[in-house]
Amino acid sequence: MAAVTGSFMHLFFLCCLFLKFMSQTGAEPDGVFCYEDRGNYTANSIYKTNLNTLLSTLSSHTQINYGFYNFSYGQSTDRVNAVGLCRGDVKPDECRSCLNNSRGSLTENCPNQKEAVLWFDKCMLRYSNRTIFGIVDTDPPLYTWYGDKATNVDQFIQVLWNLMGNLKATAASGDSRRKYATGNATASNFQNIYGFVQCTPDLSQQECRDCLDLAFSEARTCCDGRRGARIMAPTCNIKYDYYRFFEETTVLDPEVPVPPLPPKESGNTTGIVIAIVVSTVVVFLLCLCGYWRWRKAGKHLLVKGEEDDEDEIKIAESLQFNLDTIRAATGNFSDSNKLGQGGFGDVYRGRLSDGQMIAVKRLSRESSQADTEFKNEVLLVAKLQHRNLVRLLGFCLEGRERLLVYEFVPNRSLDYFIFDETMKPQLDWKMRYNIIRGIARGLLYLHEDSRLRVIHRDLKASNILLDKEMNPKIADFGVARLVSVDQTQAKTSRIVGTYGYMAPEYVIHGQFSVKSDVFSFGVLVLEIVSGQKNNGLSHWENVGDLVTFAWRNWKEDTTINIVDPSLTNNCRNEMMRCIHIGLLCVQEKSYDRPTMATIMLMLNSHSVSLPIPAEPSFYMNSRTRSLSDM
Ligand SMILES: *[C@@H]1O[C@H](CO)[C@@H](O)[C@H](O)[C@H]1NC(C)=O
Ligand SMILES: *[C@@H]1O[C@H](CO)[C@@H](O)[C@H](O)[C@H]1NC(C)=O
Ligand SMILES: *[C@@H]1O[C@H](CO)[C@@H](O)[C@H](O)[C@H]1NC(C)=O
Ligand SMILES: *[C@@H]1O[C@H](CO)[C@@H](O)[C@H](O)[C@H]1NC(C)=O
Ligand SMILES: *[C@@H]1O[C@H](CO)[C@@H](O)[C@H](O)[C@H]1NC(C)=O
Repeated sequence: MAAVTGSFMHLFFLCCLFLKFMSQTGAEPDGVFCYEDRGNYTANSIYKTNLNTLLSTLSSHTQINYGFYNFSYGQSTDRVNAVGLCRGDVKPDECRSCLNNSRGSLTENCPNQKEAVLWFDKCMLRYSNRTIFGIVDTDPPLYTWYGDKATNVDQFIQVLWNLMGNLKATAASGDSRRKYATGNATASNFQNIYGFVQCTPDLSQQECRDCLDLAFSEARTCCDGRRGARIMAPTCNIKYDYYRFFEETTVLDPEVPVPPLPPKESGNTTGIVIAIVVSTVVVFLLCLCGYWRWRKAGKHLLVKGEEDDEDEIKIAESLQFNLDTIRAATGNFSDSNKLGQGGFGDVYRGRLSDGQMIAVKRLSRESSQADTEFKNEVLLVAKLQHRNLVRLLGFCLEGRERLLVYEFVPNRSLDYFIFDETMKPQLDWKMRYNIIRGIARGLLYLHEDSRLRVIHRDLKASNILLDKEMNPKIADFGVARLVSVDQTQAKTSRIVGTYGYMAPEYVIHGQFSVKSDVFSFGVLVLEIVSGQKNNGLSHWENVGDLVTFAWRNWKEDTTINIVDPSLTNNCRNEMMRCIHIGLLCVQEKSYDRPTMATIMLMLNSHSVSLPIPAEPSFYMNSRTRSLSDM
């Protein structure tokens, strides 16, 4: 009896612990984002007053609109627009109380930002000084994942994305009251998958699909193979998990009002006693499960990269090279085979016994990544294949040696041609334009079309290799994933990259995004058109750097000064257009810069008109300050 009481007390203790944990995290949102670069308001501004008024009327709003709230308050520049959205299965009362919690949490987390967004499990709330109604918005996508890696990952992923694809179609076809869908599927080994997808109902069908596509690709990047994940974007969000976390959804039909739930049957006293006993036991069991889940999840946050999937291991084996093979191929990493030095290590030329030429990158040894993680990342990067990317053939992992084996690209790198007075004339405009477009295509693939979203982080002329026909191939992509701990995070303590190509937000705050790659692309375009290095100090002594020089000439209508004198006079328009695009890419604010998709459009069609660029950032002028800040 004592033992029973003891273990009962133990259970009780665990239960209390878990409930405490629950109640603490219950108030914690799943995600918050304060837009620090979209303006701040001050303590006694009209904007603040308007925001407070707007949010305080939130819970008294009787208009429910099927879990979607859309309201504004104030005039002209001090107008605040807010949108609230509850998960499709959440009842009106619960929805109101979730939004009520959100507003406190949002203003607490983002005390002076003009724009902010927050997600709880069952609702989200956002506000801004700009119009946000009816505009698709996926910046930022935040994510969180739950639980273990799935077993038999390939099959799991197939079942998962098949389910999510169907849910996307259902949700997108919803009407202006609700765009929401839930469903379940079972992968092998009885692995259940429960998923939901939702867009704010103010989006069109196509916008909803676009938003969800981005959330899907984000999930594949952050949480590939996990059994549960949630992706939160301002106008759509998705979640999947291995237990049923949503309720039945009421069917919308304006003609037939939803019938009220039948009143609960009132039983006799015995019934009530049984009910109490049963529900107590159920609560305990739930507590235990929850506690267990919490422990599991906690554990997996610490121990990453457990991988026991046989297929993946097989693929990994097929990509694995012997150290002896590589030694033989590169003449034991002889200096005569050294092709160059990169940010992540030295590169050697090699010839395998079957005659195939390879390039071997010997990663510097400071990586803190575990072997399994390294292998997983190699597997992911090896799947990236595009004709404007240098192909990763495999890797070698022995002792402390970490090597990446690439296809060999014969014609050296772009910097060898464009910055050399004697080589320059070999690249006429047609070739240079072809190179610019090839780089854009490769980057677009990395950013948007590939299974992963890869940010290059070190795009520069020496990372553009040229094949026999002088087609560009981007090198070194994905390496940031291989050497740094976690690239999916939006901030990094370790700056990789090359001075002169790095976006200001990256240099100063360590924030990187696809838009920091766009910045580097812009610098590269200006370099290709001008045949000058951005930070070739001697050349730009009087003006600072190429970007500054280009901007000044553009403003003074003397853009022609930027063009490489070794180019003939043909195709001036195309050159001017490239300079214009380059300047759009190096704008100071990352959100002003176009995406690679837009850039591709601008390059392909001369009828697309280009916006006027804003001033680029001139951090280069303050190079000593920036460097010492780092
Ligand atoms: C919102 O605020 C920012 C920063 O103050 C400002 O630049 C922007 O023009 C404002 N937008 C609107 C629509 O008022
Ligand atoms: C807004 O305030 C935050 C700190 O609360 C600061 O980091 C940020 O730079 C400010 N943004 C602007 C545009 O002033
Ligand atoms: C939401 O706001 C927009 C503009 O602010 C308005 O046109 C629209 O009717 C509103 N929709 C709802 C459902 O309140
Ligand atoms: C909203 O939250 C506040 C505390 O932040 C609470 O006092 C108030 O009763 C809540 N209102 C509703 C309708 O839930
Ligand atoms: C899975 O979904 C089907 C409908 O597609 C439903 O009948 C079934 O009850 C669901 N299974 C579970 C375990 O929720």
